[in-house]
Amino acid sequence: MNTTLLDTLAKQLMQGNKGLLAMDESTATCNKRFAELGIPQTEAYRRKYRDLIVNAPGLEDYISGAILVDETTRQSTDDGKLFIDILKQKGIIPGIKVDEGAIPMIGFPGEKITEGLDGLADRLKAYYTQGLRFAKWRAVITIGSDIPSLTCIKSNAYTLARYAMFCQDAGLVPIVEPEVVMDGNHSIQKCAEVTTEVLHTVFNALYQHRVDLEGMILKPNMILPGNDSAEKPTADQVAEATVKCLLRTVPATVPGIAFLSGGQPAADASERLNSMHKLFDDVMPWALTYSFSRAVQQPALELWNGKDEHIAVAQEALVFRASCNSAAKMGKYTAAMER
Ligand code: G3H
Repeated sequence: MNTTLLDTLAKQLMQGNKGLLAMDESTATCNKRFAELGIPQTEAYRRKYRDLIVNAPGLEDYISGAILVDETTRQSTDDGKLFIDILKQKGIIPGIKVDEGAIPMIGFPGEKITEGLDGLADRLKAYYTQGLRFAKWRAVITIGSDIPSLTCIKSNAYTLARYAMFCQDAGLVPIVEPEVVMDGNHSIQKCAEVTTEVLHTVFNALYQHRVDLEGMILKPNMILPGNDSAEKPTADQVAEATVKCLLRTVPATVPGIAFLSGGQPAADASERLNSMHKLFDDVMPWALTYSFSRAVQQPALELWNGKDEHIAVAQEALVFRASCNSAAKMGKYTAAMER
């Protein structure tokens, strides 16, 4: 394993004002989002959508790495240019989602375990040859009356650690994503407690599996109340709860943390990231940025709506959201930037 290369790559992904773009919706998730807007759920339309994204002018000013899904790695523009090559030409590092989705965990009602370790080493080798340089694996932790169970947290943590080790062995930087989802009516305090437990368990598993912490990136949730909770914390309160939790659980040697958005409204996600930098820049040992999917792409997807004549305006909206999040990474985002 070449830890120097991995460490350099991880730092490159976290550089300056930049963040990651999670354009890695599975076919099922992408089709679901298309269906909500009446966009045809076909390979051709998914290709058009990914074409719009990778070719968005100026995306490279804000995005250091783009997480793709397997189908996208083989897709190209009308004139035959592979999307992977377009990203590379723009200086955006291509990455790949390698988990095969979260399925119900038998014996643990309401909980999930992520699949995809079988054959992973071979898939990673092939992805490396295709030019992909980092990977992502998402574990799902749900809060409910008696959940999450310790068994679910531990099983997902071990799976994440095994995935991370496979990635580093193949020369790809692992993005380790244990997502405590926002479903439910739990309080912000409960989210903090569960996320703290999850992150302690994940970093313990990473240590036990001999993962190079300097050659990985953590992709966590922000600390937020559940979607059905009446609590409405301010951006500063979210920032405080989130950074406190991360300071307690994430070793200082980890080069970067890149948040998922989890279904937060796009402007809220920017404002909360901004508050973290505004309030805590002096005490955070790692780079702190974004790896959003919905909070960057949703407004663009809605504007595009499957129509060629809307591509330019959708691209502008996509780059605009990326620019807001990059401003937030520098603590320079303001609500006035919204339009
Ligand atoms: O795995 C989830 C994605 O990488 C992030 O998606 O920002 O819409 O939560 P999200």
